Amino acid sequence: MSQPVPFQYPERIKLAQTPTPLQKMERLSQKYGAEIYFKRDDYTGTELSGNKVRKLEFILQHALNLGADTVITCGGAQSNHCRATALAARRLGMKVVLVLRTSNPDQPPAAEGNILLDCMADATIIWVTPEQYQQRDHYFAWQAEQLVAAGDCPYIIPEGGSNPLGAWGYVATIEELVTDLEQLQDNDPLPTTVLSAVGSGGTTAGLVMGNKLLAADFRIVGVNVCADSDYFKQVIGNIMDDFQGRYLQQPIATSADMEIIDGYVGRGYAQSQPQELEAIRDLARLEGVVLDPVYTGKAYHAMISELQKNPDCFGSRIVFVHTGGLFGLFPVAEQMAEIL
Ligand SMILES: Cc1ncc(COP(=O)(O)O)c(C=O)c1O
Repeated sequence: MSQPVPFQYPERIKLAQTPTPLQKMERLSQKYGAEIYFKRDDYTGTELSGNKVRKLEFILQHALNLGADTVITCGGAQSNHCRATALAARRLGMKVVLVLRTSNPDQPPAAEGNILLDCMADATIIWVTPEQYQQRDHYFAWQAEQLVAAGDCPYIIPEGGSNPLGAWGYVATIEELVTDLEQLQDNDPLPTTVLSAVGSGGTTAGLVMGNKLLAADFRIVGVNVCADSDYFKQVIGNIMDDFQGRYLQQPIATSADMEIIDGYVGRGYAQSQPQELEAIRDLARLEGVVLDPVYTGKAYHAMISELQKNPDCFGSRIVFVHTGGLFGLFPVAEQMAEIL
């Protein structure tokens, strides 16, 4: 058994509805012969639903402390992080600039799903190609320069809010989970696997750090929804190194303290294949829980596919972190309708 490490959270502003519930999926558990729970981080709010608001509580507090009045961030066209940032910024009386990736910036995607909400928040949207997106730091600097020249005080948030400060949001989730599991009726201290989607790495970095700091002894497993496991081991390892350098006396974790299940990117980032959409549909019918096609649907598809191959692969208790993303379901309505 590892030992807890004393720590103090950085200052944060309350934005998320937390703690979120831990719910047992009774029929799913029966089907796969393991205790399967969902940590309902899709319940962190309506507009702010999902994992990003947990990170934003720390990041936006920092922005406010620095006197920022405008936030700049980036993501894919249907970015949940950008939508949550736009609405959270408005809640705090700030303006927002989004650098959004799309194949043809001259013909940006329709204002639906998260984009609709970005527009409702009156975010300034800068559409860029995937190639231009590689140079997003350049767009950030350019926007920041213009804002400063106009007398504003901008604050830049990296993709997905995935930096050491944002990772504290998922340290807090581990703390909640420890209490959630202690409060279970049978309170059997079963070995527990915590499984979630990996998009920019900050959530998993926070889960690993929280697991170590609180000596929770969970097995932390991520499913990459883009790129590959080597890439994310590097990215998450870097966030963790930074986190430990900034906030801890000495390092306590490395990227060896988590696993990334590769092989479930499918057709690519934000591209769905029928078996993923079928998994989402079947879960809605089995448990009345709705996943998104870009993140949680892929992670869930990976989880049940691995369980089908080997029912013991995650041990006897699994916590699937439902990180939200529901607004991303509406832009695939047509594709989904084909299998209903
Ligand atoms: C709904 C949802 N789930 C999971 C993730 C993955 O989290 P992270 O970017 O911290 O890896 C994201 C964002 O990328 C997301 O929007």
